[in-house]
Amino acid sequence: MDKLLVHGGTPIHGAITISGSKNASLPILAAALLTDQDVVIRRVPDVSDTNYMVQILTGLGADVERFSGTVRVTAADISDTAPYDIVRRMRASVCMMGPLLARKRRCVVALPGGCVIGDRPIDLHIRGLEALGATTEFEGGNVILSAPGGLKGATVDLCGENGPTVLGTDNVMMAATLAEGTTTITSAACEPEVVDLADFLNSMGARISGAGTSTITIEGVGELHGTVHNVIPDRIEAGTFMVAAALAGEGVTLRRVHEGHLVAITSALRKAGHQVHFNDNGDACTIHRGDTPMPAEISTDPYPGYPTDMQAQMTALFATTPGTSRVTDTIFPQRFMHCAELKRMGADIHVADGQAQITGVKKLSGAPVMASDLRASAALVLAALTAEGTTEINRLYHIDRGYEHIDEKLEALGANVERVRV
Ligand code: EPZ
Repeated sequence: MDKLLVHGGTPIHGAITISGSKNASLPILAAALLTDQDVVIRRVPDVSDTNYMVQILTGLGADVERFSGTVRVTAADISDTAPYDIVRRMRASVCMMGPLLARKRRCVVALPGGCVIGDRPIDLHIRGLEALGATTEFEGGNVILSAPGGLKGATVDLCGENGPTVLGTDNVMMAATLAEGTTTITSAACEPEVVDLADFLNSMGARISGAGTSTITIEGVGELHGTVHNVIPDRIEAGTFMVAAALAGEGVTLRRVHEGHLVAITSALRKAGHQVHFNDNGDACTIHRGDTPMPAEISTDPYPGYPTDMQAQMTALFATTPGTSRVTDTIFPQRFMHCAELKRMGADIHVADGQAQITGVKKLSGAPVMASDLRASAALVLAALTAEGTTEINRLYHIDRGYEHIDEKLEALGANVERVRV
């Protein structure tokens, strides 16, 4: 039950290295279940969500070893039932369904419960796996998918009310790698994390083409083999530190980024009057706070649009940007838990119908605030960097789910922060 004390007003500067992507690591770790051979995954961030995934793999019977950012998985003999006690702690456990169903022809996974960021059904996942021939039962809070005769390739559309689904695309793509025949996914998610998973699966001997576009084709194969893979950089962690630099920075450099994955975030920051420069290789960038920050309109969209996972951080930036800005979330319209806490720090925000209208104030003031979810807690940390006095961010476990040692990285940039064990 750690909390973070942020003593505001100290400018940040210098350089840090961005970690591997949490949202790429989770499905890639699950995909290791598709073979009984050794799989080595490097640059897996040391965050609680990847620890949960390692515990689930171990609970299923896989042999797992972890050493400084590298995870070796050997899923020689595994069960088809994911351990409820761990699965209930992390929604992303749903990406167990595809690999288990493909490998064991049956899987039992706990249905995800409620989520503070909004309604998160799994109907599209089920639709996709049923299209490959699975049958579904719901019993005792679990979803049970079976395909005793094995999966068969098919064409399936994965577009829902709020657009494509990232983990749904991952689940169907993983299941289809061992199906008989060819699968075509239309309205597939195009996120870089989906591409990284496809690259990983292809390095195991899968035949996937079109990842990164809305149409993915998977030719099923008889079996997959072991591999070694480096996970892509975390574009949301990078985006979070880019906003920190725009808020409180005097020249901050982020190493190990991927320029192509940051286009929407970069253009939003430039639109808001801040400077972002990438080096020639596009694998490092330097951010300077603009002399005249400007209000802006941001609307989230599936990739390559502006990411919903960067919506809260931008709201924190606009809280002290002169003028009126608007942030709309089209993917999770209720994802505004951070706004009530920012208002406790003196922000002027009005939330209605999936949009936050933010009128910039001169300065926020430090206060005790409550983290509610991963990205909302990041927004509170950012707002606290320039607030008057000390902000106390409680329930820090939310931020530890997806940011590797965020307090140490902020300290490396000169921020005045303290992690306190409660
Ligand atoms: C992934 O979640 C990310 N998580 C989320 O990041 C991210 O916010 C989200 O994609 C959107 O970019 C991981 O990669 C582990 P979706 P996912 O299925 O796949 C609706 C973070 O902060 N939907 O793409 O679960 C859904 O309700 C996390 O790191 C259905 O209607 O999200 C939402 O409105 C939070 N039916 C939209 O689609 C379904 O079966 C997109 O959700 C599935 C989804």
